[in-house]
Amino acid sequence: MKDQVKKHLKILQELGYEHIFVEKYSEDKEEKEKKLKEIDRQIQQCKKCDLYKNRKQAVLGEGNPNSPLMFIGEAPGGDEDKLGRPFVGRAGKLLTKLIEAAGHKREEFYITNICKCRPPNNRTPTPWEMEACFPYLEQQLQIIKPKVLCLLGATAARAFLKRNVAITKERGSIINWNDKLLYLTYHPAYVLRNPNAEITLFEDIKKAIELAIEK
Ligand code: URA
Ligand code: SF4
Repeated sequence: MKDQVKKHLKILQELGYEHIFVEKYSEDKEEKEKKLKEIDRQIQQCKKCDLYKNRKQAVLGEGNPNSPLMFIGEAPGGDEDKLGRPFVGRAGKLLTKLIEAAGHKREEFYITNICKCRPPNNRTPTPWEMEACFPYLEQQLQIIKPKVLCLLGATAARAFLKRNVAITKERGSIINWNDKLLYLTYHPAYVLRNPNAEITLFEDIKKAIELAIEK
């Protein structure tokens, strides 16, 4: 890495550059962790929508605060609500398995949801609940600054695109959103019910990772 940088600088020097401006790429990890903890403190007390009534605890998300890629699901389920961590139930185990099959670890990335509290009986969050919770996700995006958002399932895609999404038709699409790329794919829970779709979800996860890392 160091040698590569040196080589690069040498080439710039030969091209006549005398000064280069190095932009600080990302804040200190600890600084980011501190800001994320503050959001966590807020969501644990949040009563902006009725989902607070049903939660054991709100689930902020977890992972690398410097990740170029964020996986975004719908809302915590029973296991997540109990453990306070995103994607740790059956769907989460599948997500973790596919990230590993792509040659990576889930800790390399950041994983979260549109809604931070578990809906009763794991129903889909309502548009209002998603809207109420979205500012917390926006704060997370401002802190973590990922390049690619891998949206797991139609609900997450709807929350960003503010329109209905037919995920079987639109999965695999890459959409510009602010200065980021949205990568639409299936929700792992859908794949648990439709095992034939596993290979597609795997390919999508691989592509989203490549897009985030090479960009
Ligand atoms: N399903 C989701 O959408 N999110 C989780 O965290 C777990 C299951
Ligand atoms: Fe607040 Fe979001 Fe929980 Fe609703 S789902 S109570 S907006 S943290």
